[in-house]
Amino acid sequence: MAVLAGKVALITGAARGQGRAHAVRMAGEGADLILVDVCAKVAPTGYPSATPEDLAQTERLATDAGATVLATRADIRDSGALRGVIDQAVDRFGRLDVIVANAGVSYFRPFLEMSDSDWDDMISVNLTGTQRTLRAAVPAMVAAGNGGSVVLIGSVASVKVVPFEAHYVASKHGVLGLTRALAVELAEHRIRVNCVSPGGVTTAMGEDPGIPELFADPGRAALFMASYNPLLDPPISTAEEIADAVLWLASDASGSVTGQNLILDRGVTVR
Ligand SMILES: NC(=O)c1ccc[n+]([C@@H]2O[C@H](COP(=O)([O-])OP(=O)(O)OC[C@H]3O[C@@H](n4cnc5c(N)ncnc54)[C@H](O)[C@@H]3O)[C@@H](O)[C@H]2O)c1
Repeated sequence: MAVLAGKVALITGAARGQGRAHAVRMAGEGADLILVDVCAKVAPTGYPSATPEDLAQTERLATDAGATVLATRADIRDSGALRGVIDQAVDRFGRLDVIVANAGVSYFRPFLEMSDSDWDDMISVNLTGTQRTLRAAVPAMVAAGNGGSVVLIGSVASVKVVPFEAHYVASKHGVLGLTRALAVELAEHRIRVNCVSPGGVTTAMGEDPGIPELFADPGRAALFMASYNPLLDPPISTAEEIADAVLWLASDASGSVTGQNLILDRGVTVR
């Protein structure tokens, strides 16, 4: 039995990487999908941006896996655009059951070299954009009256330091705080709110060329390795492994879980 049969899920950052893995996994479990991605450069990341072709490819893969899909280019910081997408989706699907607030950016910048715009870009996409996503989409979930599951994508940086990314660490600590705050406020609507916090994942972001650059400096490399040292081999997860956890939180199988942070970090935070 498909665990999301008859349900509708919104996934942000769906053009590639983890967002694509969530889309394909949920499509295979019977969900119809609303896919959002900006497909453009929104921060000075060292890795290339997703493209409209990437989003079209996710749409094809999810359709092939059995979903009816509404895919749109939008920036998660743009409340008006997001509300437009949700209105269109409600007209088409009549309900919203799952939100995966996954879109985000990451890049390394030692704090003493970090500009105000580095800070502003990171906080605005990862934290404010996540808030804008939920502020635009949760009312449709409440109005449908079926309860629901919201999954925010945090990071090990939601609970510990990743050196040379103070802006990312602050944004992802904020994402976990938002998770907990909303779990309390949305419970009366039978909406569960949880966070999934990956360590490294084999995506464009996880294979950021900024990491080897950082490691060219032995002092910085040593500080990084002392702070970030996975137990499991390989030290980095696949997007599909993260998608399995998100699917569980999205489904009724996790019906007694809310306000929690599920850490998939291959052991980084154990020691
Ligand atoms: N890859 C990792 O190692 C890792 C580790 C921990 C957490 N995460 C988190 O996982 C999530 C997914 O990242 P990923 O690894 O798939 O990286 P990715 O770069 O492959 O995918 C991120 C997607 O988000 C989209 N996006 C970025 N800013 C956006 C905006 N303003 N509006 C709409 N879409 C936007 C991008 O276009 C891209 O398609 C992010 O929240 C990230 O912080 C990643």
